[in-house]
Amino acid sequence: MERTLIRDIKPGTEVCIKGFVDTIRDTKALQFIIIRDRTGKVQVTVYKPDLPEIAKVFATMTIDSVVSITGKAVAAPQVKLGGIEIVPFAVEVLSSAKLSPIDDKTGPDLAMDYRWIDLRDDAKQRIFKVQTAVVSAMRDFCVKNEFVELMTPKLTATASEGGAEVFEVKYFDKKAYLTQSPQFYKQMAMAAGFEKFFEFTPYYRAEKSYTSRHATEFFGFDVELSYINSHHNVMDFEEELLIYVMKEIEKQFGIPAQTAKFPRITLLESYELLKKEKNYEVPRASKGDLDPEGERLLCEIAKKKWNSDFIFITDYPFAARAFYTMQHDDDPKLSKSFDLLYKGVEINSGAQREHNPDKLRASIRQKGIDPETLQFYIQFFEYGCPPHGGFGLGLARFVSKMLDLPTIREATFLFRGPDRLAP
Ligand code: 4AD
Ligand code: MG
Repeated sequence: MERTLIRDIKPGTEVCIKGFVDTIRDTKALQFIIIRDRTGKVQVTVYKPDLPEIAKVFATMTIDSVVSITGKAVAAPQVKLGGIEIVPFAVEVLSSAKLSPIDDKTGPDLAMDYRWIDLRDDAKQRIFKVQTAVVSAMRDFCVKNEFVELMTPKLTATASEGGAEVFEVKYFDKKAYLTQSPQFYKQMAMAAGFEKFFEFTPYYRAEKSYTSRHATEFFGFDVELSYINSHHNVMDFEEELLIYVMKEIEKQFGIPAQTAKFPRITLLESYELLKKEKNYEVPRASKGDLDPEGERLLCEIAKKKWNSDFIFITDYPFAARAFYTMQHDDDPKLSKSFDLLYKGVEINSGAQREHNPDKLRASIRQKGIDPETLQFYIQFFEYGCPPHGGFGLGLARFVSKMLDLPTIREATFLFRGPDRLAP
């Protein structure tokens, strides 16, 4: 018999359900077994005197075993799960489960060791359903706007975002690196004339950070756009995209979408605002950027002042940004860059890029890097390349904040950190 999904069960019909055994309650005359599949839960009721063979199977069955049960669905108003129960004809054990090593009280590390069991939970599964919808809406918006999705290599000969935070791999008799971002290749796509690029991509960062927002491997959503006039065009596009995504999520999951515009302030203005509204001074060590506390407070201010969960911080000092960032013509100390903060954390960085190869060489030198080592990249701009810019957004940061989760780990199927390489 063909499988019936639990949500499709109709009273008065014969069904074949397949799923995990959620709970078993064994009383003198009756057994109540709750079966769970991805669409819901249903009760199977066994009247022992009528069904001694089936009762014997359930008597020794362990929780989380996987079964196939054929039977008749009958209306049972007293049953809380949808007013339906299944009276079984036959039970087949597809996989029998050992006793679970984790439960509700298990700490996060052990839960991660058994992540596949940890994820057998409606609330946890919902996180990934939301993430699927987020990714799908992002892709949908880009495709509607004539973007091309390219898959860039993750093995590379040169680091893109800074020397130290890069994983080295043995590549036959040479050294290779895992890409920290698709930065070089998405810019190359602009030089190729695609004009509009996006990619969902792993990022690798050899960073020994043990915070709620850091991983060593995570997924990013990258966008690159040609023929922009400044980084403001990139922000315009991103804002439209994120509002579209949030409206889709509201439709599907009832999580209220923001309709208010995203405020945009410069980094300097953000320092003044923090001083004025919160009497907060960004520590000297973080000057030229924001510290986590500053980011958190700015989001509080944005919520209160502009009713926005998002705030763009723009025009960081060139010294604080990567070499590919374009400097302002009238003030080369400042760059055409931005970060987007959402509910207290940076969810993406972006910028207009320097597409003039001579200026790019000068920028690279300013960062203390020998341009010769980046010649393979600089040459992308030597054969004609439109002005361009884009951003890279951390998916787990976005989704975890959207769902108000305490860490990105909960919005990551399998987390990778300095001490976590398995399962
Ligand atoms: O800010 P980042 O380093 O920017 C870039 O990689 C640029 N290539 C982007 C661009 O197009 N200009 O990384 C982008 C985003 C961050 O804003 C953050 O959301 C996320 O990636 N991110 C991390 N997420 C989890 N763990 C980490 N260690 C992360 N590092 C960055
Ligand atoms: Mg950043």
